[in-house]
Amino acid sequence: MGPPAVDISSLYREAGFFTYDPGFMSTASCNSRITYIDGEQGILLYRGYPIEQLATKASFLEVAYLLLYGELPAKKELVSFERLIMRHTMLNENLKNFLNGFHYDAHPMAMLMGVVGSLSAFYHDSLSVNDPRHREIAAHRLIAKIPTIAAAAYKHSIGEPIIYPRNDLRYCANFLRMMFATPCEDYKPTLIAEKAMNLLFILHADHEQNASTSTVRLAGSSGANPFACIAAGIASLWGPAHGGANEAVLDMLLEIGDVSNVPKYIEKAKDKDDPFRLMGFGHRVYKNYDPRAKIIREVCHQVLDELADINNPLFELAMKLEEIALNDEYFVERKLYPNVDFYSGIIYQALGIPRNMFTVMFAVARTVGWVSHWLEMMDDPNNRIGRPRQIYRGPGQRDYLPLSKR
Ligand code: ACO
Repeated sequence: MGPPAVDISSLYREAGFFTYDPGFMSTASCNSRITYIDGEQGILLYRGYPIEQLATKASFLEVAYLLLYGELPAKKELVSFERLIMRHTMLNENLKNFLNGFHYDAHPMAMLMGVVGSLSAFYHDSLSVNDPRHREIAAHRLIAKIPTIAAAAYKHSIGEPIIYPRNDLRYCANFLRMMFATPCEDYKPTLIAEKAMNLLFILHADHEQNASTSTVRLAGSSGANPFACIAAGIASLWGPAHGGANEAVLDMLLEIGDVSNVPKYIEKAKDKDDPFRLMGFGHRVYKNYDPRAKIIREVCHQVLDELADINNPLFELAMKLEEIALNDEYFVERKLYPNVDFYSGIIYQALGIPRNMFTVMFAVARTVGWVSHWLEMMDDPNNRIGRPRQIYRGPGQRDYLPLSKR
């Protein structure tokens, strides 16, 4: 092929100057007032409040209110917000038909993504995204229905009938009951199980412009239906480099199998010719201990102790892996510390949540962050459709050749 008929670089000159930043390493895509992260210091604040204080003192719906509206609710506000959310927990009966269309062994993330996306067909009023009241109702519906859908996906995967929500229960207790009750036997979660779930949900509720939240914002920037935008966020979360890491950590610990194998896997993770990475290690923003991992690590002891699971061999294995990695030059030099997902899977497992539901748990909690960002973006007068540029590396302009001449 001869030289390009058109000098591509001249097209770029005409288009103006723009940056090339793969993975958005140093590009801010928006202004936000929701979450602050200092990756060097290991600081995470929701609306200014340290994650350590919220995780130990607040309820999940209290944090949801904070993320959505910017302030902690007064008692009366919290009670009416809880009532409002609980009023929307039911699903349209026709959604059951849709869920039943999935093969029994479909991954629950696939079902969650499909069913949440299909809500856009049930709630046409959300299409008028220009009306703030409609936007707010869509946000409430999403927070309320996502646990019901998640639990229904689980029930479908194990061939059990769906358990309907009980709106007199708290958010996390209601969710655990929908997961584990059957028509023959009710289920009342222990206080420690409910507390652990509340904590994990708070820690996962938001994390500023991560891949899934940016996906929700990008999808929403075109004015798309909010349920479709959240389905897009669920798709992005699923990958093992993001929310899928909690499932991948457990798979990895099971593969390592025994403390004596840890050094071998550390060497594998360091080998650039081996695709193996230490799952649950490293973070794009944290170059210090992930503050959420610090909280989970402490609570993990307590939860396993109270659930009489303290001798859980996976926990021992995780601690050994952490100890060796944190003293290894490779991990120290690259500032690779355990992230939130290194320990969350162990707690979920102790609560009886199956492995393929771990990322679904993350999605249930992160829905609050996704809708908060979607609302913030839709309210922003500077919101424009997201439209990244590219550096074109293909051929220059050339003429079509008829088949006989190729
Ligand atoms: N194991 C071994 N080496 C690693 C790991 C790891 N888990 N993570 C990063 N590295 C190495 C990279 O190979 C690279 O080495 P090099 O400089 O010699 O080439 C260096 O550390 C920097 O890593 P990048 O991949 O450039 O970092 P990036 O910011 O792109 O990726 C990510 C961050 C995706 C989280 C990565 O650390 C990873 O894959 N971790 C494992 C998956 C995981 O735990 N994901 C959950 C993230 S947290 C969340 O979503 C809630």
